[in-house]
Amino acid sequence: MLKTRRHLLGATALALTLGPVLSVHAADAPLVLGFSQVGAESEWRTANTASIKDAAKQAGITLKFADAQQKQENQVKAIRSFIAQKVDVIAFSPVVESGWDTVLREAKNAKIPVILTDRAVNVTDPSLYVTFIGSDFVEEGRKAGRWVLDWAKKTVPQGEVNIVELQGTVGSAPAIDRKKGFEEIIKADPRIKIVRSQSGDFTRAKGKEVMEAFLKAKDKKIHLLYAHNDDMAIGAIQAIEEAGLKPVKDIAIVSIDGVRGAFEAMVAGKLNVTIECNPLLGPQLMQLAKDVKAGKTLPKRITTEEGVFTADVAAQELPKRKY
Ligand code: AHR
Repeated sequence: MLKTRRHLLGATALALTLGPVLSVHAADAPLVLGFSQVGAESEWRTANTASIKDAAKQAGITLKFADAQQKQENQVKAIRSFIAQKVDVIAFSPVVESGWDTVLREAKNAKIPVILTDRAVNVTDPSLYVTFIGSDFVEEGRKAGRWVLDWAKKTVPQGEVNIVELQGTVGSAPAIDRKKGFEEIIKADPRIKIVRSQSGDFTRAKGKEVMEAFLKAKDKKIHLLYAHNDDMAIGAIQAIEEAGLKPVKDIAIVSIDGVRGAFEAMVAGKLNVTIECNPLLGPQLMQLAKDVKAGKTLPKRITTEEGVFTADVAAQELPKRKY
């Protein structure tokens, strides 16, 4: 009996001593961030993933990373699993725009803040996410359109200007917005028409396959290809060459992202221009995760600064590229 009481007293004394130590430790515990990535469909995405993983390490954040392999159902599962694991913050780059209300409400009910990176969602209640950091895809489409207007004036002064378009993943924010911005600008010249448009799912393989089909149709001269990302443009370049045509000379090519592969293609004379879309979002995302955890109010939208790179500056820019 006496022994038991001594044990109890000892345990209470230990708990009293350790109590403050344990709570200090809990407050100092690294922030846990659950991140659901779209997939590994492009050079851009690979750079984005590397940026997020590196930045988490640098910031001392524990990253739970899930690759959704371009499937929304996988992202929903990943978000639910982050909720079950009670992570501090959830971030994700949504594969498509719609269909997020339910799972984001679950995160909100669990009091886990959500940060959108790279791509937007279409939700009825904007309070379902804290902030959205990423590019302005409509503006990227406009930049591509402005380049095409100017090019058409100089290169095809008369007659129709036929464009084929390789769209990104169906229903994704960049595919919707890049199309919208581009069309908004090119309508200023009624000679310019998009004669064929199909999704190449943001991949090289699909870009090549769809371009092959465009070329086989042979019913209309193709003056220019507008690809929603560099990877699809690079796949399409292969298709153009295999069809015995010369990229840039026979078909002008405009794409988006500004990855190293696009700069190499421009140096090789196979791509006219790339519109930059910056994937290096990791450091900013980590800071936002820390800020939201610390209770700071964040701006609802954070847009990244980006440029336009034409073939004439490619050789000089290539060594400076970070992705
Ligand atoms: O969401 C950004 C887009 O997704 C990039 O332009 C593309 O390369 C990627 O797959």
